[in-house]
Amino acid sequence: MEESAERLKPTAGPHLVGRKEDLIKAKRSFRTLEGRDVLVIHHQGTFYAMDFHCYHAGGPLQNGDIEEFDGKLCIVCPKHKYKISLADGEGIYSAKKPQAPEAAPTWHSKGIKQRIHTVTEINGDVYVTLSCVPRFIDSDYFQGEKGRIERERF
Ligand code: FES
Repeated sequence: MEESAERLKPTAGPHLVGRKEDLIKAKRSFRTLEGRDVLVIHHQGTFYAMDFHCYHAGGPLQNGDIEEFDGKLCIVCPKHKYKISLADGEGIYSAKKPQAPEAAPTWHSKGIKQRIHTVTEINGDVYVTLSCVPRFIDSDYFQGEKGRIERERF
């Protein structure tokens, strides 16, 4: 099996990342799962998990503010303020149309940029199952040397 295919195959199972009450208290938690750096977030009663390093230039997302933009709950990367949807990793931005500079800016999508992982709770324990979406997602680039190799192949 090629290295990239090996890396993206479905994982053996969910990874225990902690007790629910501890993760709620922490709000943001860093974990390394199968060599992948993951940020576990608890926000307004919901858990989320995503690649820890921002897809743009690898900035750590741990201290990013969470705000709603265009009806989407996003983490704002502290480094350059890129906005990433917690639900699906979509990168969004607001911009004015060049042909109508007097008009208010509108929201646009860059598509899925950040790899999002699945969080489950069982009896007070919280688990993360790593995403196995079988294609390169921009945040893969910042998951160490393997990520860089994968980018060159896709
Ligand atoms: Fe996150 Fe640039 S590194 S916005």
